[in-house]
Amino acid sequence: MRQHTIVMCMGSSCFSRGNQENLQVVKDFLSENGLEEKVLLKGSRCEGECLRGPNITIDGKLFNGVGPDNILEILKKTLLGGVSS
Ligand code: FES
Repeated sequence: MRQHTIVMCMGSSCFSRGNQENLQVVKDFLSENGLEEKVLLKGSRCEGECLRGPNITIDGKLFNGVGPDNILEILKKTLLGGVSS
């Protein structure tokens, strides 16, 4: 049973500005925490928010400017912290 959904913008702007690396970080995080069965990981097309990207939506909440500085904190808070959407 999937408990969370992560949608990563794979539009060319977000992808080239960081979501390519972020995707690997997310995959590693899911596998390290045994979350692969609990989290549905999807890609989206450009969400029209390129200027604020790279963008990742987790359980319907949009996170902007996601990168090495904040991605782990976001993943921990949303997937491990029991924060409901
Ligand atoms: S490429 Fe991600 S919002 Fe446009």
